[in-house]
Amino acid sequence: MDVAIAPVAELASIAADEIQKLLNRKPDAVIGLATGSSPLPIYDELARRHKEDGLSFAKAQGFQLDEYVGIDVNHPERYRNVIEKEIASRVDWPASQVHGPDGNAKDLSLACAQYDAAIKAAGGVDLQILGIGSDGHIAFNEPGTSFASRTHVGVLTEQTRVDNARFFDDDISKVPTLCLTQGLGTIMEARELVLIATGENKAEAIRQLVEGAVSARWPATIIQHHPNALILVDEAAASKLELADYYREKWAKRDLLG
Ligand code: F6R
Repeated sequence: MDVAIAPVAELASIAADEIQKLLNRKPDAVIGLATGSSPLPIYDELARRHKEDGLSFAKAQGFQLDEYVGIDVNHPERYRNVIEKEIASRVDWPASQVHGPDGNAKDLSLACAQYDAAIKAAGGVDLQILGIGSDGHIAFNEPGTSFASRTHVGVLTEQTRVDNARFFDDDISKVPTLCLTQGLGTIMEARELVLIATGENKAEAIRQLVEGAVSARWPATIIQHHPNALILVDEAAASKLELADYYREKWAKRDLLG
């Protein structure tokens, strides 16, 4: 696991470099897309590189991490709409190549199984962008989720609904309670993970993810078992890391590490 501690603009640039390297070597790459506020600076940087340097997503496939259940198809916070607005429509990414689980499906379990199968049929995710919840979730895998889980119907914790109320007029009663989410087992099959976290509110989750014991209480700790994970944090999110200085030194020497 590599940990980069830097201002947010630099974090976005590091993440965009990884995505650009991937697309240069594999234009039809499969990219896993997170929503929420954390990846927005990455999407801004990718949109800038598309406009100014011609970075192209024309052949790429995109797969969302998750979706709310029962949210109106036109709701601005429906994750399919968020992804369209924040990244797909700002680059040359055909809508037909960006996929999300169907939170309005009649048979939600079937929709989950079909989503996992679609990821597999696309060849698996090459690079997965991730955020992290203050309770340690990745995608919407809340505490207690099986490390082997596949795409499934999940129940959001009260903490997550409180955190996400800012997207729903600060009214927790408007935040859906159910979601469809890629499972931890699904996410762990991605070839590369790039997780971004900013702000003090994420400091404990980041401490657990990087230095804590692997446990279902903090689902993101499963990333310790991933062979190719990059954790991007600003100073505030890194503020509880015991070995922050060591991670800084290791990051500065990354070119020597191969
Ligand atoms: C969203 C997702 C979530 C968020 C997490 C952090 O697709 O999978 O795990 O990444 O809830 O959200 P923000 O970035 O809004 O703090």
